[in-house]
Amino acid sequence: MRHVLTLLDLSPDEIEAVFALSASLKRDLARGIRQPRLAGHVQALLFEKPSLRTRVSFETAFAHLGGTTMFLGSDVGWGHRESAADFARVLTQYVDVVVCRANCHQRVEELARHATCPVINGLTDRYHPCQALADLFTLLEVHGRLAGLKLAYVGDANNVARSLAVACARLGLQFAIAAPARYQFDTGFLKLLDEHHPQFDLQVTTDPREAVREADGVYTDVWVSMGQESERAARVQSLSAYQVNRELLACAPQRARFLHCLPACRGQEVTDEVIDGPQSVVVAQAANRMHVQKGLLAWLLAR
Ligand code: CP
Ligand code: NVA
Repeated sequence: MRHVLTLLDLSPDEIEAVFALSASLKRDLARGIRQPRLAGHVQALLFEKPSLRTRVSFETAFAHLGGTTMFLGSDVGWGHRESAADFARVLTQYVDVVVCRANCHQRVEELARHATCPVINGLTDRYHPCQALADLFTLLEVHGRLAGLKLAYVGDANNVARSLAVACARLGLQFAIAAPARYQFDTGFLKLLDEHHPQFDLQVTTDPREAVREADGVYTDVWVSMGQESERAARVQSLSAYQVNRELLACAPQRARFLHCLPACRGQEVTDEVIDGPQSVVVAQAANRMHVQKGLLAWLLAR
């Protein structure tokens, strides 16, 4: 059973196969072609946290592929009405794939352990693999290649940053992350990266200007992720020097594109001028969530 809980679950060749299929389905859609490759299939979206992009893009992608989606919110009682194991065993008798957004990464791992159909991580506190797939696909569209590019991430080393780092390691990009020491990658994650990708060109710094130098993409995300609301004041204070604004973007080459997974907290991690500016590709990124997840679903369920 193949699950996609982190991008370590897909080999570099498999990620490239997903990108090729996504690009082909994207071209088809632009010509008005929607092949019902997954007619009769059912997708469950099991979400513990709010979502716009992930929820709607997965549901739309599955509809284009001819399948049906059901959204399962807190009322299904995952781990409350019955054990999480029983829940997983029963749910996956009914559906062909589960996309899960969970508060805690171990919840998705437990779901997958007991599931009899593929489970896709739609964001946890640790990882956001589908986001990183869409982000690298967007960089590929913009720059025409991935290997050898440099992606700079400025701000909190969170779930999105971890998945971007894994994606870059797997596809041969250089990755730089600028964050205050307190909000940098944890040693466990750095060890995991090193175990899987000892040759990875990773730059860890506290200096945002150093990170964005020679970057082809400059990325940021919110300083306060879902579930961290009680830490807001401390986080905003520590991260205030890590805003992506015009001055910082000017330290990157003109070819650099600005990326953000959205939703953004405008005026904190990014200024309006940058997110709405000519180098920003945030809307293309959000659109690509749908195209890339469609490719991932078609690839995964064809196996
Ligand atoms: N980027 C992202 O995952 O957005 P949502 O939280 O709206 O799904
Ligand atoms: N880091 C953010 C990403 C939202 C898409 C969060 O986890 O809230």
